[in-house]
Amino acid sequence: MNSPWKGKAKATNQAYDDLRPTITYRHLLSNNLGVRDPLRVVALCDSDAFYAACERVRLGLDPSVPIVVQQWESLIAISYPARKFGISRMDKIKDAKKKCPDLLAVHVATYKEGEKEPGYWDDVDTRTHKVSLDLYRRESNKIISMFKESLPTGEIEKASIDEAFIDFTRPVREKLLERYPYLAQVPADAPDGTDSPLPPPPPINWDGLGSVVPVSPSEETDGTSELSDEVDDNTTWHDVALSIAAELMKKIREDIHSKLGYTTSAGIARNKFIAKLSASYKKPNSQTILRNDAIPNYLRPLAFQKIRFLGGKLGDALAKEYDVSTVGDLLTVSLEEIQSKFGENALWVYEILRGIDHNEVKEKSALFKSMLASKNLPTPITQSSDGHQWIRVLAAELALRLNDARESMPTLWPKAIVLHARKGYETSRSKQATFPFVRNVTVDVIATAADKLWKELTGDAKTINVTSVQLAFTGLEKAEMGQKSIEGFFKTRDIQQSPSLKRPREEYELPASVEDTSLAPPKSSNVEAVSFQCSRCHKVISLREEQVTDASEVAQRLATLRLEHDDFHFARDLAHSNESPLVPVPRSSSSRGVRRKVEPKGIAKFFTKK
Ligand code: CTP
Ligand code: CA
Ligand code: CA
Repeated sequence: MNSPWKGKAKATNQAYDDLRPTITYRHLLSNNLGVRDPLRVVALCDSDAFYAACERVRLGLDPSVPIVVQQWESLIAISYPARKFGISRMDKIKDAKKKCPDLLAVHVATYKEGEKEPGYWDDVDTRTHKVSLDLYRRESNKIISMFKESLPTGEIEKASIDEAFIDFTRPVREKLLERYPYLAQVPADAPDGTDSPLPPPPPINWDGLGSVVPVSPSEETDGTSELSDEVDDNTTWHDVALSIAAELMKKIREDIHSKLGYTTSAGIARNKFIAKLSASYKKPNSQTILRNDAIPNYLRPLAFQKIRFLGGKLGDALAKEYDVSTVGDLLTVSLEEIQSKFGENALWVYEILRGIDHNEVKEKSALFKSMLASKNLPTPITQSSDGHQWIRVLAAELALRLNDARESMPTLWPKAIVLHARKGYETSRSKQATFPFVRNVTVDVIATAADKLWKELTGDAKTINVTSVQLAFTGLEKAEMGQKSIEGFFKTRDIQQSPSLKRPREEYELPASVEDTSLAPPKSSNVEAVSFQCSRCHKVISLREEQVTDASEVAQRLATLRLEHDDFHFARDLAHSNESPLVPVPRSSSSRGVRRKVEPKGIAKFFTKK
């Protein structure tokens, strides 16, 4: 240790070499190293018991109240005080009340026939009402806005209704140079100029910054304890970066708590995969820092089939091929070996097992987004004329969501409106049409367009048997027009209604209420949807089972379908297939997208469905 320019200690485990890179002045001072930046810091922030918290805040209740959100007879969110009574999502409302007699159960808001706005009614009934998640979407947007405001140089990617990835790399870099200005100048005696390693980092005081995952699982730390000499010895500049991100994250979380009333839990680490993995280390209202040095022991005991994309057929195949179950077991498999069995792209698996993930944190573009309102009908529609009432209910939801989204993006326009209906045991059928370019998107405008599609869909059949209806806007985009036309377009009443129009253009942000389905979280956020439209290929994926009425079951199955479908795209991307993508041909009126068969290669075959 005579020269500070000597590289730091070698990684103890060859499998994890990537976790202790030499960090040079070039790394620190170059502006755009992207996903390979050795000082990269990413966080995943997830709201605690989100729907329950939204209802608690709406009702102005004390956080200690045991509150749950109910959908029909099932529970969709359980506050932490209610969890103390042993209540879980598996419970029915009756059993939950037995466990906690003082339980406050709030039924999720619903749209009711004839009402333009969702509300909290006394007579909720799945036969006449439709669940509304609008409150949660709005609250979610507020949280996302706070992330964006606090971190003008950070990248925010909404990952689900209650979580977001935050790329802290830039804000951290700014702070790092501000705090340690000597880093901005490559010393004259640095042996390799800009390529010389940074001097040894300062010690870090983790107090109050969150739970620091111990390097060896036996150590317990809560952020307040002495983090042993071992850690100090091995401290890296990346750890300093993590600690700065932890400070920033903490401030934002406290801000969200004091301004909006929500507690959150976050994971802070070198990439998205590790950040997500550590976010639930301690819940609620806490944050976890997973230092690079702690990654090996954190990953090794993990059942690899619990890792996203390794849960399905690929995971099964790996488990079978090598007769193993944990990440640690698979570390003995060489890259050559795994690639010879699973194809070139198994590099991705090889890397994930070693805590490497090069996925970018990137805000999704509004392009190709869709908004979908759906209703699973407990009593099938048997007469074509009875469809109208449900169409109005779905139209009311789309009207509200589009107009909400337009608050921040006034020219947002759907290219098309699509109506799906599932008849009896058939798979879903759909009709679509270009959406008229009218000034005010009212319930009537939407319902009229949808009614036309409904007529086309049901034809002149005397009796029908429709078990689910879904109405969607697809191809949502900012309409291209000059400022003049925008003003003209929104002249008269809109301009008064929407003060946000006065905002500068750059602030027209992606409305988070436009759900992106391509990167949906493992759990569905819309328990009532029975299908979803993939934002990449526009294909509508529906549940096959008829009459699945249990909310959590629907959500689970749908989530599985989404994952499978995402996996499919993932595999296609991996396979770099040069065949044309699976895109339904958009026509003014088409039923069932035209698909092309694709022969999967290598790793891809583990993701395709029959
Ligand atoms: N959700 C749902 N159906 C599911 C999973 C989740 O409706 N199958 C909703 C929940 O109501 C929840 C929100 O999506 O409030 C976010 O889900 P998640 O983060 O998994 O759970 P939380 O309820 O937020 O609880 P936690 O504190 O554990 O994150
Ligand atoms: Ca959550
Ligand atoms: Ca979540």
